Amino acid sequence: MIPYKSIIQINKEKDTAIYLQLTSAFIGLIKDGTLISGAKLPSSRTLSQLLEIHRKTVLASYEELQLQGWITTVPQKGTFVSSKVPIIVQKDFLQNKKTTKSEKAGFSFYKNKHLIAHEEKVANSTIYINDGIPDTRLAPLKELAIIYRNVVVKKNTLQFINYGTAHGNKDLRKNIAKYLNETRGLKITKDNVLITRGSQMGIYLSAKLILKPEDIIVVGDTNYISADRTFLNHGASIKRIPVDNDGLCISSLKKLCSENTIKAIYITSHHHHPTTVTLSAERRIKILQLAEKYKFAILEDDYDYDFHYNHSPILPLASHDCNGNVIYLGSICKSVAPVFRVGYMIATKDVIDEAATRRKYMDRQGDALLEITFSKFIASGDLQRHTNKVLKIYKERRDFFCKRLKEEVSEFIKFEIPNGGMAVWVQLNKKYNWGDVSRISQKYKLVITDWKNYDPINSGHNGMRFGFASYTIEEIQNLVLQLKKTFLEVKKLK
Ligand SMILES: Cc1ncc(COP(=O)(O)O)c(C=O)c1O
Repeated sequence: MIPYKSIIQINKEKDTAIYLQLTSAFIGLIKDGTLISGAKLPSSRTLSQLLEIHRKTVLASYEELQLQGWITTVPQKGTFVSSKVPIIVQKDFLQNKKTTKSEKAGFSFYKNKHLIAHEEKVANSTIYINDGIPDTRLAPLKELAIIYRNVVVKKNTLQFINYGTAHGNKDLRKNIAKYLNETRGLKITKDNVLITRGSQMGIYLSAKLILKPEDIIVVGDTNYISADRTFLNHGASIKRIPVDNDGLCISSLKKLCSENTIKAIYITSHHHHPTTVTLSAERRIKILQLAEKYKFAILEDDYDYDFHYNHSPILPLASHDCNGNVIYLGSICKSVAPVFRVGYMIATKDVIDEAATRRKYMDRQGDALLEITFSKFIASGDLQRHTNKVLKIYKERRDFFCKRLKEEVSEFIKFEIPNGGMAVWVQLNKKYNWGDVSRISQKYKLVITDWKNYDPINSGHNGMRFGFASYTIEEIQNLVLQLKKTFLEVKKLK
């Protein structure tokens, strides 16, 4: 018998399942001629003893090899290498003509001037100043992995791994509706919920539904740049209204409404993006009244509702929407980790059904297994517990970050302590510019690039967001010291 024990290496530490390791080992032996056609394979019992693995593992591997056509089993005789093994020889249809892949397409295609490609961010030793993102090191990966595993091994999961609905998993829609009703005062059922792959998908779908070229959408001056670009991509005409300490200015909105046909307004009510101010309760009511009167849509992007540090948050406009004007957008990407693409779009049923139809032609359906996992994560109260836990940590980081900024670099910047969210709106003294800061900061292993995104119309506010939530106290300490060194060097340029 072939010395299987010495020629088949099984590594139990590897991520690859053992039966698959065994399967590829056998395929290798057949391909290199060690096992010729007709050769008899050891019994599953013998091989399992030789390799010190479970007999069921050997049986699973033999079954896989048989399905792939490498071996055949003859009842009462044993298992043999097939007489015709399935080695696929690829034929080049251009016979001998060697080609390398071209770098450029051989046809013309449309590039959209409004959209920007995503840049890869950051090498290990550098600190990237971000827009306000969660600390992924705090993500409850183990808890989610346990739920996911249980979901996958359950028999009734089979019904979900087929093609499903573009609306998203039914249980998750129910649990999201319940969660939003309890935490945000909404009054919705699952029929008002479309599961998206994050808030951005909700913004895109809303734009698809509402905007045709030249249609007017109102946004703040300043505004979340990805939303701007999404609307421009749909050919919309963007009208900007000022934002002060209470959020969007209503008098400007009223004026616009009386002079134009407004299709929609985009708002980040909880913390305006980028300046982090909260839209006041009074202005929320006024926007709802104007929307009813002029029949426009309110796209309420509540991207960071779960993060408030000083007092209870003001309920979203969606909680008082009796006339079907609000499309409410959110996700769990910010609360758990951006990689989990699970978000929601909330609106009247007619809008949700149309949005699901539109979504289907771009993304046939969401990730049902992930959706079931998150449905259970929400229903068990784990999402709320996780949010409460990180909220405490982020509050401590916000306080420390603002304190250190004040102590070390207040000569160069001004900022207000945000009452929630994950970022501080930092305005650089107008004597300086972010271009110089960005260039010099590289020397101190800081990456400051995003300032360009906060002033697309060159209004000259000299502000940019500094995310704080993703850094530990030690990292914040280091960040601020490096920032100080940067600013001091920028000062010498003057
Ligand atoms: C204001 C705002 N809206 C939407 C998004 C998109 O979030 P998601 O990851 O849920 O798509 C972001 C992400 O940073 C954001 O800042």
